[in-house]
Amino acid sequence: MKVTPALLVIGALLTFWASMAIMVLLPAATMHPAPSSTWRPWSSEEEAGNTLYVQNGCSYCHSRYIRTNDWDLGAERLAEPGDYVAQEPSILGTERTGPDLSQAGGEHPDDWHLAHFTNPRYTRPQSLMPAWKFLGESDIRLLTAYVQAQGGRDADTRISRQQRWRTPAQEAYARGPDKNIEWLHDQVPHGWLAMPNPYPPLPADLARGEKVYQDQCAGCHGPIGDGQGLAAPYLNPVPLNFTLLRRHLTDGRYLGGMLYYQIMNGITGTAMPYFKRDLESEKIWDVSNYVAVYFVGYTDATMEPRGIGAAYEPAWTNPYTPPQTQPAAASQPAAAPARTEPR
Ligand code: HEC
Ligand code: HEC
Repeated sequence: MKVTPALLVIGALLTFWASMAIMVLLPAATMHPAPSSTWRPWSSEEEAGNTLYVQNGCSYCHSRYIRTNDWDLGAERLAEPGDYVAQEPSILGTERTGPDLSQAGGEHPDDWHLAHFTNPRYTRPQSLMPAWKFLGESDIRLLTAYVQAQGGRDADTRISRQQRWRTPAQEAYARGPDKNIEWLHDQVPHGWLAMPNPYPPLPADLARGEKVYQDQCAGCHGPIGDGQGLAAPYLNPVPLNFTLLRRHLTDGRYLGGMLYYQIMNGITGTAMPYFKRDLESEKIWDVSNYVAVYFVGYTDATMEPRGIGAAYEPAWTNPYTPPQTQPAAASQPAAAPARTEPR
């Protein structure tokens, strides 16, 4: 058969329509997954947030599906086809410059998002996400509603947990700084309050702690730990002023374990995020030491009884001498004799 221009055109069209039928029409006609167990429809606000998400190219940096190989990144749930019912078009994204957002709902309360969307570096000083302040507060609220819906019913459960704790946290904050700190510490399990920091505040530990602090915490708690970070005006309750902790050093309670617990788990209902996925254990102890030594002006590091120890490290003593002037109300836990034997 002779190849004529007409035959060429017909052949090309046939090839095109054949691939169109297999790759587009067949799936469109047959793939109608049932809604998954966590699926729910979006509200009109959440739909409007989705439009902003598409318009502003959020998907160039964020994906919206979790794969099996994401378990070690702290994935909550694997994506299912039924999660995306009635989302047209469903913008999944393939780039993961930022974290996957398919389960972002309820991870942070709304005030965290307000600060973060206004300028991501307010809450995460090292962030490379662009600032969305130019969108204005009402669009930022729509984007927040959209993010809070990611994860469907699972996200709703996390949000109701945030809301359950928000009221008592705000009430405690309204009662004044000391009552607030008492309330915060009442939520920390006793075992953690009875545990000093097992690591020594040696110069290298403090230098590591300072790096963690400036990279992760300074946006909220401020470069000097007074709670006056750039995110503070957007948050309620505001970030804690660490220097106030000095008034709460009481017998049988240690600073190290309390700091570790709060940093690891965050404070649900407030903007204080959990760091258990971002920081290894040693970094949490280091930043606890840094906060204790530089902002509270007191450390119980290396005192007995010690908690989770650094099992095979050589013996050391606490090189940090707390300032002489402790507030009258605070009685310090007695210093333990220096350890001499290796553990
Ligand atoms: C240039 C890449 C980039 C773009 C564009 C971008 N992001 Fe991000 N996003 C990031 C990075 C990186 C992070 C992690 C650091 C941080 O939290 O700021 C992040 C974090 C986030 C988080 C916090 C997730 C969590 O739970 O910690 C949310 C929510 C978010 N982005 C939403 C959005 C939305 C909505 C848009 C579009 C309006 C957007 N991002 C556009 C890069 C980007
Ligand atoms: C997005 C803002 C934000 C970031 C980032 C943040 N915090 Fe917080 N943090 C808060 C808020 C808000 C509170 C106070 C909650 C309250 O008063 O109910 C708080 C409370 C705390 C507490 C509780 C103290 C106590 O006595 O119970 C500790 C400890 C703490 N933050 C340490 C840190 C450390 C260390 C980092 C960095 C690794 C950090 N925070 C990062 C907002 C933040």
